[in-house]
Amino acid sequence: MSAFKDSILAGKVAFIAGGTSGINLGIAKRFAELGARVAVAGRNPEKAQAAAEAIGGQATGHSCDVRDYAATRAVMESVVSAWGPMDIVISGAAGNFLAPVAALSANAFRTVVDIDLNGTFNVFRGCYDLIRKPGASLIAISAGQAVNPMMLQAHACAAKAGINQLIRVLAMEWGAEGVRVNGISPGPIAGTEGMARLAPSEAATKAVTNRIPLRRFGEISEVAESAAFLCSDSAAYITGTILDCDGGSQLGDAGSLGEQRS
Ligand code: COA
Repeated sequence: MSAFKDSILAGKVAFIAGGTSGINLGIAKRFAELGARVAVAGRNPEKAQAAAEAIGGQATGHSCDVRDYAATRAVMESVVSAWGPMDIVISGAAGNFLAPVAALSANAFRTVVDIDLNGTFNVFRGCYDLIRKPGASLIAISAGQAVNPMMLQAHACAAKAGINQLIRVLAMEWGAEGVRVNGISPGPIAGTEGMARLAPSEAATKAVTNRIPLRRFGEISEVAESAAFLCSDSAAYITGTILDCDGGSQLGDAGSLGEQRS
């Protein structure tokens, strides 16, 4: 059930890095429904094309690796050539796997930091003179690992913590130009690659949901609504915030003590 019934993003140009699958594709579809012209980018050109077709309307699919600044910048330039300055830029490309530090090569650690953190820098730095000012809204997809340390996730913890600080610094540096920079921290979201890895069975799913205050996984559509809010005029005075869309997961483990009450 959406809070937004009108075309609140009508006329906006949105670029979504990593928008070819998962949560980011969900955001792209919702933004198109709300009236935005949406361009998505991912590493795989066929997947990017399929995503654009799934989004429908005027959506376009592009291929670039966010680790490559020049390639990422070139894609954003092509979006601006076609549609004019971008109003919304989302940095959502991410890579992750479960591994203890003792099993991480230097290249493995660097790869995740490169995609998540350096990729977000590349998208945001690269769009600086391609966005409409004042009024542009930038969002990076963060995660709970940015704040709460998690075993087997040193690489993602480090990368996402860096993203949170990048968001805050850019909110301060670009605020005077009327650019808002925020983050979304999705919790466990159903139907994503991350959840398929973390909770591959019914028992694992129950173990995870038992620890979430709202006692269920989130939906991709719920993260999309958070993104729509942050990019709408309703959030005009919000910048430098990382919005937790996580059923309360950041508050801590609602499991064992919570079960004693029920
Ligand atoms: N455990 C330990 N190391 C791992 C690993 C794992 N499960 N998976 C990959 N690595 C290491 C590789 O061995 C390699 O290091 P090496 O050169 O020292 O051997 C390094 O990470 C880079 O892997 P590579 O496969 O060459 O990188 P890539 O750029 O092709 O892929 C990944 C990037 C590794 C993040 C890959 O998982 C990916 O593309 N993921 C995208 C999808 C995704 O992760 N979605 C979830 C988002 S939350």
